[in-house]
Amino acid sequence: MFSSLLAASLLSLALSASAFPEYRSLAGLSAAEVRAVARTFTSTPGAQPLPPAINDTSSKLVYDDAHPWEPLRPGDIRGPCPGLNTLASHGYLDRSGVATPGEIITAVQEGFNMGFDLAAFVTYAAFIVDGNHLTNLMSIGQKTPETGPDAPAPATIGGLNTHGAFEGDASTTRDDFALGSNFLFNETLFDQLSQAAIDFGSNGTLDINSAAVHRHNRILDSMARNPNFTFVIPRYLTAYAETTFPLAMFVSNQTSDSSMTLNLDDARSFFQNHKYPDNFFRRNGSYGNDEVGTLITEVFELFPDILPGNNEGAGNYVLDPNDPGFNGDGTCYAYYKQTNFTLSLYPDPTDELRTALQQNLATFYITLGDPTCEEVFPFGQ
Ligand code: HEM
Ligand SMILES: *[C@@H]1O[C@H](CO)[C@@H](O)[C@H](O)[C@H]1NC(C)=O
Ligand SMILES: *[C@@H]1O[C@H](CO)[C@@H](O)[C@H](O)[C@H]1NC(C)=O
Ligand SMILES: *[C@@H]1O[C@H](CO)[C@@H](O)[C@H](O)[C@H]1NC(C)=O
Ligand SMILES: *[C@@H]1O[C@H](CO)[C@@H](O)[C@H](O)[C@H]1NC(C)=O
Ligand SMILES: *[C@@H]1O[C@H](CO)[C@@H](O)[C@H](O)[C@H]1NC(C)=O
Ligand SMILES: *[C@@H]1O[C@H](CO)[C@@H](O)[C@H](O)[C@H]1NC(C)=O
Ligand SMILES: *[C@@H]1O[C@H](CO)[C@@H](O)[C@H](O)[C@H]1NC(C)=O
Repeated sequence: MFSSLLAASLLSLALSASAFPEYRSLAGLSAAEVRAVARTFTSTPGAQPLPPAINDTSSKLVYDDAHPWEPLRPGDIRGPCPGLNTLASHGYLDRSGVATPGEIITAVQEGFNMGFDLAAFVTYAAFIVDGNHLTNLMSIGQKTPETGPDAPAPATIGGLNTHGAFEGDASTTRDDFALGSNFLFNETLFDQLSQAAIDFGSNGTLDINSAAVHRHNRILDSMARNPNFTFVIPRYLTAYAETTFPLAMFVSNQTSDSSMTLNLDDARSFFQNHKYPDNFFRRNGSYGNDEVGTLITEVFELFPDILPGNNEGAGNYVLDPNDPGFNGDGTCYAYYKQTNFTLSLYPDPTDELRTALQQNLATFYITLGDPTCEEVFPFGQ
């Protein structure tokens, strides 16, 4: 009783970062707590610059001896993204599931050959709303004290599971937040993906055509059953992007034009088990903004009838006239939307937190590349 209380209070001390000096005994803490404390020893480095892009984007064996798959230890976190889950389970990301944005950007390039531009944009769109600006850590799943001390409410620092910040509805194999688990693998939904591949795919494998069918079905299902279905930027863009990711990055030895198809055993290995298939080679050539744009267009044009909007009650989908979707500058709209959301989470930050927010928003703007929109400075310059 006492020892667990003591462990809990040591942990909360530890989590106020510098209050827990490195020389202090870790006796009484669980393995997960020790890992949490070890992570917070690095204290509060604040915002960090983007890492460099990898230069060699050729195909190579990524399920190698240095990156064995390992089962979860108590306390390890996984979330809604099968890409990041797999990278953590092979050690390309910290196996705890808590990582910095720089570590994520490097890992998705190394392990999957996602392009630097796409990786940086996606990671920062999520990090600014789901991550910890002071410790520079984010959970790839549930909220955890392992990211360090929280900023005051309304900041959430909830990790990628947080609904409505970056994660959203009509996912490939995860349920809508309002209907069930928005981060756990769902067999019913995977079976629907498989059925689409069998009925409409390429000899029983997932291709563009069958992936587009499943994308469309998932949206129609959410429209019909989820009274709170929300399908606006950024989710509108990420929903189509996530439909292309398995085709582009889960196929061993995939070519630069992503023309090979995905067999369902390999799909399950990633979606359910967070595991590369044996002898997995990453794609040849990176999958960046140009490539994802091409593939999203192919997916969207098969069912071009869905525009951004949200349900006001099940079956009552109302369009959002302000949201450009794919008919305008969705990237800039996403920049303003995520920036505004960040400001709503941090209405009045001070000191190091304000500085880190300034810097991370400046980095997010850099990830847009050469945008047509002006930079904004809600936390000052
Ligand atoms: C660059 C950093 C990345 C971040 C921050 C990220 C984050 C996320 C998040 C939050 C979701 C849940 C979306 C939702 O359901 O609303 C998701 C889904 C998904 N991601 Fe990632 N992701 C990243 C990179 C990747 C990579 C490299 C791959 C593939 C190699 C990938 C494949 C997928 C797939 C297939 C889904 C759909 C999951 C499902 O519903 O079954 N992601 N990602
Ligand atoms: C890639 O090459 C550039 C230019 O030579 C260099 O600055 C950068 O550090 C390299 N990236 C990595 C990851 O080594
Ligand atoms: C309903 O949608 C809003 C907007 O995305 C979101 O903030 C909220 O968490 C959702 N609630 C449920 C129960 O889905
Ligand atoms: C999986 O998703 C389906 C469809 O939304 C839902 O009916 C079912 O309850 C979910 N299964 C689990 C185990 O959550
Ligand atoms: C179709 O798949 C089966 C096994 O799944 C395989 O034996 C056959 O060679 C494939 N046909 C083509 C045309 O790829
Ligand atoms: C991928 O390509 C490499 C090198 O060409 C080859 O050795 C390997 O067997 C291929 N892997 C798969 C799964 O096709
Ligand atoms: C990878 O792509 C490069 C550049 O397009 C090409 O020269 C090379 O032959 C490809 N390698 C493989 C293994 O397909
Ligand atoms: C962001 O907030 C500004 C100021 O309130 C507003 O004018 C703008 O429309 C918002 N943009 C988006 C995309 O939400």
